[in-house]
Amino acid sequence: MHDISKEYIDNLTAKTPAISAVEMTELVLPNDTNLLGNLLGGRLMHWIDIAGAIAASRHSGRVVATASIDSLDFRHPARMGELVILRARLTWVGRTSMEVTVKAYAENTKTGSVIMTNKAYMTFVALDEEGKPTPVPPLIPETEDEKKDFAEAEARRNERLKRKSFNL
Ligand SMILES: CC(C)(COP(=O)(O)OP(=O)(O)OC[C@H]1O[C@@H](n2cnc3c(N)ncnc32)[C@H](O)[C@@H]1OP(=O)(O)O)[C@@H](O)C(=O)NCCC(=O)NCCS
Repeated sequence: MHDISKEYIDNLTAKTPAISAVEMTELVLPNDTNLLGNLLGGRLMHWIDIAGAIAASRHSGRVVATASIDSLDFRHPARMGELVILRARLTWVGRTSMEVTVKAYAENTKTGSVIMTNKAYMTFVALDEEGKPTPVPPLIPETEDEKKDFAEAEARRNERLKRKSFNL
C-alpha cells in the first residue's frame, strides 16, 4: 500500500507507473455468469473500467472520466468459481488524458492455472471540481515494458483521435 499525502497528489510531480498500479481480484459468482456458467462480458468490462479508473485517479489525484476503450477481445472464458485478476497501469500521459493498460487473468484456485483472458488500452481524462479536463502529472516509464508501451502510445492515440473525428 502506498502512503501518498494529499500535498503530493495535488502537485504535478512526475510519477512512475508503479506508484499508481492496481491489482484487483474478483470472484466469479452465479450472478456474474451466463447460462453456460461463463463470466458475462459486460461484467468483465465493468471491472476493467473500475481497475483502469483507479490507476488513473491515483496518478492524477483527480476524479476521472473514461474517454475511450480500444478494442477488447475475449480470448478465454472465465468460469463461475474462478478468480478474475485485473492489473492496471499507466502507459502514457498527455496534458489532461492518461492511457492505461488493463490485463485480466482467470485463476482457477483448484488447479492453480492462471490464463490471460483480456488486454485493453483505455483513455481517462482528469477532471477538476467543475468537471473540466485538468492537467495531470508527467509519467516516467522505468522498465523495458513500460518504455515500449510509452514509445508506442503516440501511434495508438493518433488512431483513437482519428476514430473520434470520423465517428462525430
Ligand atoms: C472525456 C471528456 C471529458 C473529454 O472532454 P473534451 O471536451 O473532449 O476535452 P478536450 O477536447 O479538452 O480533451 C481532453 C483530453 O482528452 C483527450 N480525448 C478526448 N476524447 C478522446 C478520445 N475519444 N480518445 C482519446 N482521448 C480523448 C484529448 O485528446 C485531450 O487529451 P490531452 O489533454 O492529453 O491532450 C468528454 O468527452 C466527456 O465528458 N465524455 C464523456 C465521458 C463519460 O461519460 N464517460 C463514461 C463515464 S466515466
